[in-house]
Amino acid sequence: MSCQKLIIEGARPLSGEIKVQGAKNSVLPIVAASLLCEDETVLENCPHISDTYTSCRILNHLGCRCKFSANTLVINPKDTDKTDIPDELMQEMRSSIIYMGALLGAFGRCRLSFPGGCELGPRPVDMHINAMKRLGVRVLEEYGAIECVCPKGLTGNKITLSYPSVGTTENIILAAVKAKGETVIINAAREPEITDLAKFLNKCGADIKGAGNSTVVINGKDKLHGCTYSIMPDRIAAATYISAAVCSRGEISLKGIDISLCESFISVFEQMGCSIYVYDGCIYVNAAKKLRSGGKIITLPHPGFPTDVQPVVMAAVCKAQGITIFEETVFENRYRHVDSLVKMGADINVVGKAAVVTGVEKLYGAKVSATDLRGGASMLTAALGAEGITEISEICHIDRGYENIEKAISLLGGKIIRK
Ligand code: UD1
Repeated sequence: MSCQKLIIEGARPLSGEIKVQGAKNSVLPIVAASLLCEDETVLENCPHISDTYTSCRILNHLGCRCKFSANTLVINPKDTDKTDIPDELMQEMRSSIIYMGALLGAFGRCRLSFPGGCELGPRPVDMHINAMKRLGVRVLEEYGAIECVCPKGLTGNKITLSYPSVGTTENIILAAVKAKGETVIINAAREPEITDLAKFLNKCGADIKGAGNSTVVINGKDKLHGCTYSIMPDRIAAATYISAAVCSRGEISLKGIDISLCESFISVFEQMGCSIYVYDGCIYVNAAKKLRSGGKIITLPHPGFPTDVQPVVMAAVCKAQGITIFEETVFENRYRHVDSLVKMGADINVVGKAAVVTGVEKLYGAKVSATDLRGGASMLTAALGAEGITEISEICHIDRGYENIEKAISLLGGKIIRK
């Protein structure tokens, strides 16, 4: 994939209305879940992002047929005849580890490679492997590959997670919906995207209770059927556009997303002094004023402040009056955007897990390079509030999660081109 650049002329307050795309973190497990169905699945509100395309390439490799037009993805798993995922696809999208649960649920076996090192720090899969073992899976790890078989079939069990890992919870659900008997997940992740996966699977005939809570109970079924399902809106994309409005001191409306999905982060923008309310089904944000700091922000599993929102909110507070302190507790290495923000004039000091941001009067355009998906979005957010021109390279990271971001920003009056 060739990586393009975004060129942004900043310091122009964003204004206008856009529709929020479908959620990346929901579409990926749901596409994998479609493998579990006997017949066709129709997924609406699918975002055109490169991670969705990678998911389709994985399905195609497995022998599944996918048709993606407008925002509807039709998946027919009938001809699936493979249970391995090649290394290059595993490396391209680290969340492809969720195919472990999906393939085990569908075929009782799979061969994947380790998702590899990650830009956010080590991203081990020990919890995924241990959880599959609890369902009766034999796991062989050799030469960087993970081979999983379940000679006696998947059997439900009680699984207690030491940490509410999103991907592990999804993998357990994907396998357990086809296991014999009952599976109980204790200390499950509670992210709304997990509820969306469970809603999709229940529509396909699965029996999952409690998704969105710490205890999830799954009763396995022999067969699941396809269905038509609409992917939930992307709360992280919403947070990104709100941050961009804040950094540019603009005034925007977001449609297609309920404010209840934004509860884990909206209070930070309110604490900064933004006016946020719901009007005519849209989230309306007015940040066209002097803003205060975001106070102390600690990233935590849901319903805590999301780690994925930390980089964009950091860009949003760079010009706010006072000190904002971030504490990143979910990933070890999630401050890679900081150097670029500093290059743009921000005052940020990182000490271990903490990043201390002291508000400055102005940010300035610079040449920067996207380090990872949300880190790249953070640079774009800062660029919209910065004087002069910013050039962001390596935007293939941004394209993994944002659908046509330059169109969305242009619709809000931002000056941006892709080159
Ligand atoms: C998902 C999201 C990602 C988000 C993250 C946390 C998707 C596609 N991705 O990632 O955007 O940032 O949740 O909200 O939904 N861990 C282990 N061992 C494991 C599994 C996880 O130590 O086997 C650790 C990770 O290294 C990390 C923490 O647990 O420090 C959280 O990871 P997890 O919740 O699993 O995140 P992902 O599912 O990878």
